[in-house]
Amino acid sequence: MFTASEIRSTFLKFMESKGHTIVASSPVVPGDDPTLLFTNAGMNQFKDVYLGFDKRPYTRATTSQKCVRAGGKHNDLENVGYTARHHTFFEMLGNFSFGDYFKRDAIKNAWELLTEHFKLPPEKLWVTVYAEDDEAYNIWNKEVGIPADRIVRIGDNKGARFASDNFWMMGDTGPCGPCSEIFYDHGPSVAGGPPGSPDEDGDRYMEIWNLVFMQFNRDEKGVMHKLPRPSVDTGMGLERISAVLQGVHSNYEIDLFQNLMKAVIDEVKAAGAEDVDPNSPSVKVIADHIRACTFIIADGVVPGNEGRSYVLRRIARRGMRHGFKLGARKLFFSNLVKAVAKEMGDQYPEIRNPHIQEVLRQEEVRFSQTLSKGLDILNEALASGTKILGGDVAFKLHDTYGFPVDLTADVCREKNVSVDFEGFDALMEKQREQARAKGKFKMAQGLEYEGKPTEFLGYDTLTVQACRVEAIYKDGEPVKDAEAGDEVVVVFDRTPFYAESGGQMGDKGTFKNKTTILKVDDTFKIKANVFGHMCYVAEGEVKVGDLFSAQVDEENREATARNHSVTHLMHKALREVLGAHVQQRGSMVNGDRTRFDFVHTSPMTREQINEVEDIVNKEILRNAPTQTRVMPIDEAKKTNAVMLFGEKYGENVRVLNIGSSCELCGGTHVQRTGDIGMFKIISESGISAGVRRVEAVTGMAALHYAQNQEEIIREVAEELKAPALEVVSKVVDTVEHLKRTEKDLNALKVKFAQAGAAHMASQAQDVNGVAVLVTEMKGIETKELRNSVDGLKDQLKSGVIVLIKSEDGKASAAVGVTKDLVGKIKAGDVMKFVAEQLGGKGGGRPDFAQGGGAAPADMNALLGKTRTFITEKLA
Ligand code: ALA
Repeated sequence: MFTASEIRSTFLKFMESKGHTIVASSPVVPGDDPTLLFTNAGMNQFKDVYLGFDKRPYTRATTSQKCVRAGGKHNDLENVGYTARHHTFFEMLGNFSFGDYFKRDAIKNAWELLTEHFKLPPEKLWVTVYAEDDEAYNIWNKEVGIPADRIVRIGDNKGARFASDNFWMMGDTGPCGPCSEIFYDHGPSVAGGPPGSPDEDGDRYMEIWNLVFMQFNRDEKGVMHKLPRPSVDTGMGLERISAVLQGVHSNYEIDLFQNLMKAVIDEVKAAGAEDVDPNSPSVKVIADHIRACTFIIADGVVPGNEGRSYVLRRIARRGMRHGFKLGARKLFFSNLVKAVAKEMGDQYPEIRNPHIQEVLRQEEVRFSQTLSKGLDILNEALASGTKILGGDVAFKLHDTYGFPVDLTADVCREKNVSVDFEGFDALMEKQREQARAKGKFKMAQGLEYEGKPTEFLGYDTLTVQACRVEAIYKDGEPVKDAEAGDEVVVVFDRTPFYAESGGQMGDKGTFKNKTTILKVDDTFKIKANVFGHMCYVAEGEVKVGDLFSAQVDEENREATARNHSVTHLMHKALREVLGAHVQQRGSMVNGDRTRFDFVHTSPMTREQINEVEDIVNKEILRNAPTQTRVMPIDEAKKTNAVMLFGEKYGENVRVLNIGSSCELCGGTHVQRTGDIGMFKIISESGISAGVRRVEAVTGMAALHYAQNQEEIIREVAEELKAPALEVVSKVVDTVEHLKRTEKDLNALKVKFAQAGAAHMASQAQDVNGVAVLVTEMKGIETKELRNSVDGLKDQLKSGVIVLIKSEDGKASAAVGVTKDLVGKIKAGDVMKFVAEQLGGKGGGRPDFAQGGGAAPADMNALLGKTRTFITEKLA
């Protein structure tokens, strides 16, 4: 029996013996193709070769390509676990011809490998061809010998021209062409009909290999342009062919998956599941998804809320939820990275990186909190036995608990319950509208409050029990209470939430009690000592007098503190490096970054920026504790603390010593400078006369910034095929080389033009002693006509030249008359005549004129008439 690994190497070696170069798989994140979310086929890395934009040292290649089909045009996510052969991640074996062999060899090679090396019985193989592709049909039928009753023609069966199972496209745009697919018949014991029949979706006839005859490039408008050379792209799923060769019906039964599924069961049990059915779809889902996550993270993606990061998060969370469903109550998913590495690390060493498991572990920790709460709520809602889950429940799960709606749908599907998506969408839309209508500004404007001031406890703690509601405002008016779905401003007697001031943004977080959850999106000052919390009532209701426990979003607050503290250090360093004239003009600090505006007239040099970074990072490394002292303003003035000119300070002020800086500040800060982590300036610019703006990041954001920059260098180095350290000299060389080549090319063009002109000049006719050349020009740009006329004038020394070009229904013409003849005939007059014939416009000077119109029906007649016109003038 062939193992999956042997099948992979047999394939590659066979193709190598047929003259193909073995090329490594490209990453699952496509390098520079914005049309693609993930690499979805072996041909992706060769897209530009097919299009004729890129050349390789070989014209035949073969690969085993890592592919992800989740999100984008080829999306299999929802099917995984429920069919025998869908995967989010899989390996595609392929062979490629770039203008080398075409249909015949592609078909014959495939047949030879399957029947002679893999020893599949020919009578078990079926093929399909594109309905119009007689050539492929005949090769299969007459040359390979497959009887007509096992060859199926499939036309445009997907509702549009070229939309067909047998016409393969990489995406909405890009290389494409008709294809021929090879199927394996598992025999009558498995349900399903042959391809093209009504029950083709059954598992009996399994597609194993797709041979694409690449012939077109489809553009954004759907227009098909012929490729420079007909080419071949084939794809055979490693997991599918392994199933066939190992005599099993499901991809999950092959050796590679069996080991992985054993590991899944062990981990899920270790995490608390009592008994696990090895045939449960959940085990398959987890085995599939852990492969996808491992490979996607290995190629540089981390879970997040957009694009690839979001798709990764969805796959990871779907995998985790299936573990939960099997009974896992502790982390298990991220532990499985090791099992994937064990199975596949030899072929793909990049998945052995320990970073992968850590990234996934963090995501798993985050999600396990969300999951248990969300599932409780969902199960409660389904306990009534309803067959439709209300859109409001799905919305609340999504909005309040961060429980993704596709997971809700998944859970419901298993219980045969449908989800009211219309209701869900309507609520989502309503929420978006409300957010738009009630901008933060509108909610905070002109609130009147005469009660107790707010006691701020947030310097020392992020949680406070028993905060009493003092006032509630809805749409700017005080109200006694509010209910779920309302957006309100709430004032409490005390709070740990920092209200926006001194450039530091307000805190986010939640207030909770037994019945109610208030989500705080921002905190601001209604007046000096009164804090307004911008709240969304996520659950329950709230009345004046209610008590709540407050919890500030810790991660955001800590990141904000890092950025605020570093602003003080940066302010001081800027004064050291640029001079004492540096005065703060404004600042904005939040969890993402710090933005600092200051007085200074010229852009900072690279050296100055580096110096500021060095000074600040040294202060961080000294790890000095922050000191806060509250003192009367007069005393503070004696400390040399930096005060902002024009700022109003109260009687008592906070003097903050961070590292060697000393400023008056009411913000929240790190405890020691070392907490800041790394500091990095990411931009410097001018915002108005004499005011500069610097933006900087700290902590993990600084590290990620550096990693991204490094990645860019790495990519450039890879493109240039040079070590990173040599990138600069390589670019300089390349630019030099390009300039030289351009120069050579221009010289050649001139020579070409001269040679062409000499040849044309020799065709001029003598009319009453004057050389006259009236002729059609082909394959030339309109803007080149003038150069040609000038060149011909030089050649003829004395003469009249008319050049006409006709293309795409339009004609352009240029007329030249050498200086000695302008007394007899004017270029402008000739042009006017030509333009009249073309029904267009034209004119110019006596020695040169240009114009155009519609393409002439009969070019020769036009040329003749023009010659006659000139002859008459010269008579
Ligand atoms: N690119 C072709 C496919 O993915 C071979 O099916």
